[in-house]
Amino acid sequence: MDKSQNNVAAGLEGIVVANTQMSMVDGQAGRLVLRGYEVGQLSGEVSFEQACGLFLDGALPPAKDTEAIGQALAAARVEAFDGLDQVKGALKQDDAMAALRGAVGQWGIEDPSDRRAAALRLVGALPVWSTAWWRMRNGQAPVAPDARAAHSADTLTMLHGCAPSAAKRRALDAYLVAVIDHGMNASTFTARVVASTGADLTSAVTAAIGALSGPLHGGAPGPVLDMLDAIGHADRAQAWIETELAQGRRIMGMGHRVYKVRDPRAAVLERAVEGIEGELTGKTAQRLALAHAVEAHAQAMLEAAKPGRKLRANVEFYTAVLLEALELPRELFAATFCASRALGWCAHVFEQRDTGRLLRPRARYVGPAPKAA
Ligand code: COA
Repeated sequence: MDKSQNNVAAGLEGIVVANTQMSMVDGQAGRLVLRGYEVGQLSGEVSFEQACGLFLDGALPPAKDTEAIGQALAAARVEAFDGLDQVKGALKQDDAMAALRGAVGQWGIEDPSDRRAAALRLVGALPVWSTAWWRMRNGQAPVAPDARAAHSADTLTMLHGCAPSAAKRRALDAYLVAVIDHGMNASTFTARVVASTGADLTSAVTAAIGALSGPLHGGAPGPVLDMLDAIGHADRAQAWIETELAQGRRIMGMGHRVYKVRDPRAAVLERAVEGIEGELTGKTAQRLALAHAVEAHAQAMLEAAKPGRKLRANVEFYTAVLLEALELPRELFAATFCASRALGWCAHVFEQRDTGRLLRPRARYVGPAPKAA
């Protein structure tokens, strides 16, 4: 593509393709509004079960409904665990996202009579498949879900084989709530396009998982940890970043297509890591301190190297630190993101269906004119 075509593509960015009640991203002010709440009013403040009610029903649920949502998610976990044999081919994939994509396809999630139940059945099943995938790859038997546990606690139990502390459960809840939705991102747009054709929820979600599996969408937290590993100590941050920039490489976890200030999710995730600090192992406390130092150096050096670009920490920066503190393997980072974002996809699919309209954007033709006859 030549430069002028790139400019055409840039000019087409940011066009409005749908009305939505799900979320609003203000990249200049650094705000993310989720269903009428600032992200910081929800993440760390409400449980994932409550957030399910908010996204599927439009309002934070009363205690009784929250309990019913918890029971529906738990029933979905149990059903998915009992049916692991049905998706065992998918769980043999080498990549967690490929495993989830295959499992959703083989499982089938559409229940036309009750779309809310269908969404909870999907969202409940995802961590069962991702944790079973991880454990089986590592020669361990999958751990059965505990139907009485909160969804985030059970996610960690199914992975590690023992129940997490309350602080760790809260931290995973904060993460799952923070990343449910984020405007018309690539995977959400994918889900809406598929849904707009009248296709079923299984098709919309498998397509969205495919979109999320790409490294430009769901893939940066692993490389952020690689960067922190490579830097090792705050004293080395400046020199390391200098070398990367001199070689034309990007600093992972910095910069965003929409945000021109610090991503508001970085702050809530940082707060979530600090919430477990009381019981952090020395390693995680050091990691957090290193992350703070690297972020400060990276921000200053990017400002000098790319003046006016406003490259700041994005969601992936502290996602990496948080998920590592919860002892999630890097191979499950994208799948954990998916376990939350799937709720957003379902809400968008239902919203799109309610419009009854096919999404059919146009492309601007920039090819050669037809030869004269
Ligand atoms: N490190 C170094 N330079 C960066 C950078 C980063 N993290 N992010 C952007 N830039 C530079 C680009 O090289 C470009 O420089 P140029 O104008 O001299 O060519 C300029 O800033 C603008 O980059 P552009 O590619 O137009 O920004 P974008 O909006 O397309 O990119 C990202 C957004 C997120 C893809 C980009 O910031 C990036 O690659 N970040 C690192 C990966 C990451 O953290 N991804 C997770 C995103 S949630």
